[in-house]
Amino acid sequence: MAVYIVLLASAVVALAAPNLPTVAGINQELNIVFQYNKAELLSSVQAWNKDRTKLFGHSCSGSLVSGTFANYPVHFDVDFNGAGNLTLNATTHKVHEDPNISNGISCGRIYSPNESLVTCTVLVPDVLQFSSLNKREAEVCFAEGHGLAGILDGLINAPTLPAANVSNVTTTTTTTIGDDAAITTAGHNDKRQNPCGIWFSNTVRVGDGNPHQNNMNIQLSAPMDCGGNRCEVGHSESRSITLSWTASAAATQWISAEFDVVSSIGTGNDYTCKGDAGDWLCVWKNQGQTAYTVQNKDSNECASPNYGSPFVMWSPNADGRGSHYYCVHGRDYCRNEGDRWLETDGRAGGP
Ligand SMILES: *[C@@H]1O[C@H](CO)[C@@H](O)[C@H](O)[C@H]1NC(C)=O
Ligand SMILES: *[C@@H]1O[C@H](CO)[C@@H](O)[C@H](O)[C@H]1NC(C)=O
Ligand SMILES: *[C@@H]1O[C@H](CO)[C@@H](O)[C@H](O)[C@H]1NC(C)=O
Ligand SMILES: *[C@@H]1O[C@H](CO)[C@@H](O)[C@H](O)[C@H]1NC(C)=O
Ligand SMILES: *[C@@H]1O[C@H](CO)[C@@H](O)[C@H](O)[C@H]1NC(C)=O
Ligand SMILES: *[C@@H]1O[C@H](CO)[C@@H](O)[C@H](O)[C@H]1NC(C)=O
Repeated sequence: MAVYIVLLASAVVALAAPNLPTVAGINQELNIVFQYNKAELLSSVQAWNKDRTKLFGHSCSGSLVSGTFANYPVHFDVDFNGAGNLTLNATTHKVHEDPNISNGISCGRIYSPNESLVTCTVLVPDVLQFSSLNKREAEVCFAEGHGLAGILDGLINAPTLPAANVSNVTTTTTTTIGDDAAITTAGHNDKRQNPCGIWFSNTVRVGDGNPHQNNMNIQLSAPMDCGGNRCEVGHSESRSITLSWTASAAATQWISAEFDVVSSIGTGNDYTCKGDAGDWLCVWKNQGQTAYTVQNKDSNECASPNYGSPFVMWSPNADGRGSHYYCVHGRDYCRNEGDRWLETDGRAGGP
């Protein structure tokens, strides 16, 4: 029987909080997030408290000038991929993680072929009083689809899957178990077999399989430190990683469960991320993957089958459907080459 276990819970990633230089009276830490939809040329800005639990302001443009921000305007002036400046109450800051380069703030950024996102930790004057807005009432500025906002949350919060539990061990098909214990012991199979003692084990879909998209995020390159020059992370600095099916319990075998999925796929590595002097960056792939519910089944012609407990099987979508590359800038967001984390909040449905 193939023993295949993936553990989803592990140590939560500890992110080093940037140490921003404080000045008396300027100690409130905010997280300001800019998003850009490249196809529709639409922008949005959101201002959050430090741990991103309270929304203090939002707008469907590159500026935030309403509510408390009327007295402390926020304005992004960035390119397609989020490189550029953030102006806070008329003081210009470069979008960069190092406060010495950015003039006192710390920003990471993520961009894919369709979107870009900038996330900045900033300190604002204590006198500014913010009230929490209802997140549900925040306007939807553009259809996020498979958005970078979710990827930002994952990069911050999702645990890295332990390497030992993501190896690509695959299938075995049948095994014999049951009353005739002798059959299960190697070397004793020569006993005359009663057909009713022969059990067939396989894995079957439970109901419609309750399919969901649970994409796997994989870092394809080691983090690159641009040092004093511009730099690139492309084909020669990253590698294609084989992503195989996984399951939340020991599966007798891999099954597609009639979804358009495969047992393993290569991520490819044909994507280039470009950094400026002082940047720290890495390439990631968001690989389309379908989760579905299955169970092991032991059957015997002479008895009713035994079903195991239902569990989840994850398989890569055929032809890489629902996948895209993205670039990540910032020490707080890059992990190590080969590290992966699983999205668990994707849409319901097959590939
Ligand atoms: C950012 O600010 C710097 C310095 O003020 C300026 O030279 C540069 O053109 C600005 N970049 C953008 C994209 O506005
Ligand atoms: C914003 O800038 C203006 C003009 O420089 C200044 O008078 C004001 O005190 C600043 N606001 C805050 C909250 O620091
Ligand atoms: C910023 O510069 C100061 C003084 O030069 C230095 O002590 C500090 O380590 C630098 N910070 C970073 C993040 O490089
Ligand atoms: C990116 O945009 C193209 C064209 O609008 C679309 O076909 C594709 O599915 C989008 N990719 C992602 C990952 O959203
Ligand atoms: C991975 O799974 C095995 C069981 O296959 C388990 O014994 C081991 O502790 C797991 N490794 C980690 C790092 O969680
Ligand atoms: C995993 O896949 C790689 C690449 O296809 C292969 O070289 C390796 O042998 C596989 N490992 C296992 C344990 O199947």
